[in-house]
This record gives sequence, C-alpha cells and structure tokens, in this order.
Amino acid sequence: MPNNILRLLQERDSYISGVQMSSVLGITRAAIWKKITVLRKKGFIIEALPSKGYRLVKFPDLSEDHIAVSACGLLWKRILYYPSVNSTNEVAMTLSLQNGAESGTVIIADKQEKGRGRIGRQWISPPGVNVYMSIILQPAVKPRDAAVLTMLASVATAKALEKETGQSILLKWPNDLIMSGRKVGGILTEVRADPDKIKAAIIGIGINVNMDKRSFPSEVRRIATSLKAETGIDYSRSSVIIRVLRQFEACYKDFEKNGKRPVLEDMKTRSATLGKRITLADNKEICSGIAEDIDDLGMLHLRMDSGDIRLFSTGDINGID
Ligand code: BTN
Repeated sequence: MPNNILRLLQERDSYISGVQMSSVLGITRAAIWKKITVLRKKGFIIEALPSKGYRLVKFPDLSEDHIAVSACGLLWKRILYYPSVNSTNEVAMTLSLQNGAESGTVIIADKQEKGRGRIGRQWISPPGVNVYMSIILQPAVKPRDAAVLTMLASVATAKALEKETGQSILLKWPNDLIMSGRKVGGILTEVRADPDKIKAAIIGIGINVNMDKRSFPSEVRRIATSLKAETGIDYSRSSVIIRVLRQFEACYKDFEKNGKRPVLEDMKTRSATLGKRITLADNKEICSGIAEDIDDLGMLHLRMDSGDIRLFSTGDINGID
C-alpha cells in the first residue's frame, strides 16, 4: 500500500503544511507527525518549518516506500523489501507457492547470501551497492513461449539503464546486459507451470549499480562492470528500480497489444552477438560459427562452418570476433 504522506510530499516541489496534509488525508496533525517521524527513521530527509510546513529534501538510496509511490499502479501491486535473503528469486518462488502471491509483486533485497546466476552459477550480491529484484507475474503466455518474458525483461532493463545513464546498453544472448563491452547485469527467469499454462513467472533482475571495480572477484573482474564504474556517477538504487519497473510496464503493455514481434525486434537491434563470429559452449560441447538469428522462442541460430544451422536454447558465448 503506497505511503500517502510520501506521495503528497513527492508531489510537491515546495512545502506542504500539516493542516493541508491532515485535511487531504483525513487524519490528525499528530498522526501526520508520527508518520513523518517514521519516514525520517527510514532515511528520508524531511525539513519542517513552523511557518511553512514540511518539505521532502532527500530520499534514502533504497526504499520500498519510494518505489511503491513512484511505480505501483496498473501492473505493479506490491513492493516487498528484505535487508537480506538467500535469493530474491527463491523468496518470490516460495511466496508464489505458499499463497499464490499476487501478479505484480516485486521482491527487492539489499543483499543476497546465495544469489543465483544462470546455469547454476553464483550471482555476486554484496550489500549497499547493487540491485537484486524479482518480479512475480501471471502472464497469459504458454510455457513454451516463456523465453519471451526474459527477452522482454532484458529489453526493458536495457532501455531503462540507457535512460538512467545516457550510455548505450547492448544484449548478449541469451540475457546479459552489456555496457562498454562488459557485463553490467543479467536476467534469470524461473516458471511454475502446468503443461499448458504458466502459473507464475519469476523474473529475476540483477544490476551492478555502484559496485567498485576492485570489489569484483578476480575471476570476473575482466568481464564485469557497474553503472558507476563506467560513468563515475553514484546512482540511487530506488531510481534505477523505478525506471526498470516503469519501462517494463510499458514494454509489457506493448507485448499484450502487439505480441512478441516488437520485443524480438528490439532484442535483435540491441544484440551484441548477431552477425558476429562466436564461440559458444553449452553443457555438451563447444561450437564456433556465425550467430545468424534469434527466433521467437529465444533460440540462437548458429551457422556452422559446414553451412549447417544449429539451434541453441542455452549456452555461454565466450568469444565474439
Ligand atoms: C545471469 O546469470 O546473468 C542471471 C543473473 C540474475 C541475478 C538476479 S539478482 C536477483 C535475482 N535473484 C537471484 O538469485 N538471481 C536473480
């Protein structure tokens, strides 16, 4: 439930009096003061002048209230924040299994003890610096088409990060977000499905926001980056999340109206892979060839040196020429 006091303060560029607030919200001035105190404890800086009233001066870096007020509405219903979890995808899956958590629930954590990456990998998830979020949706999509949700999340996140940083973000198949040639984020989608129906899709989004280059473990330092490492700017994690949620909502509406094609086209336009000679490892073998296409099931079409085309649903692209 978005915080009404915060909404009022956010809507105003300047001061709003306690009297005005209590008449708009229908609660006493004492109750307003209590709620302001709670917001301050959560890290909001709110100025109070006896003659003028209250003014919001600064948001905390990561706040479920700020995110809920700015992003909740048609698609996003509930923002749940946890200081520490094993994995936000795990929390989302548990909630969805236990109480069928509402579509549009978003789980956010400051840190993850066991952040999950693709293919059973670990996702580095220290506190205080990055975005770890999982979205629960119940889309009218067949299980075989679930890859479109990952593509949609990749495209939406890329667009959002571009708006936030002013720098271009490419996509490396299947779901890496690439900034200046290095990985700045990734998507991990997990679904709960009957044979013909998705019961819940959990879309996990990890973004390296303010992480220092030297804090990455040595084995990924060469290939990973963060928004701050590339731009020198400290970003508000709430603002990054709000942008991603708004952009996701816009892409999702477009998908509901126009189907997969626009998502797929966006995905291809942003591809760091298509048309290039690549080396791809899946769990069985390593293959080289030209990345020729991504189809509407999210499969990569690789033209081998023999001229044959092979289709991959997963894999790791290690070399791009
Ligand atoms: C990848 O390997 O590229 C996918 C990384 C996905 C990481 C995010 S962080 C939030 C969510 N919770 C997880 O445990 N993983 C995803």
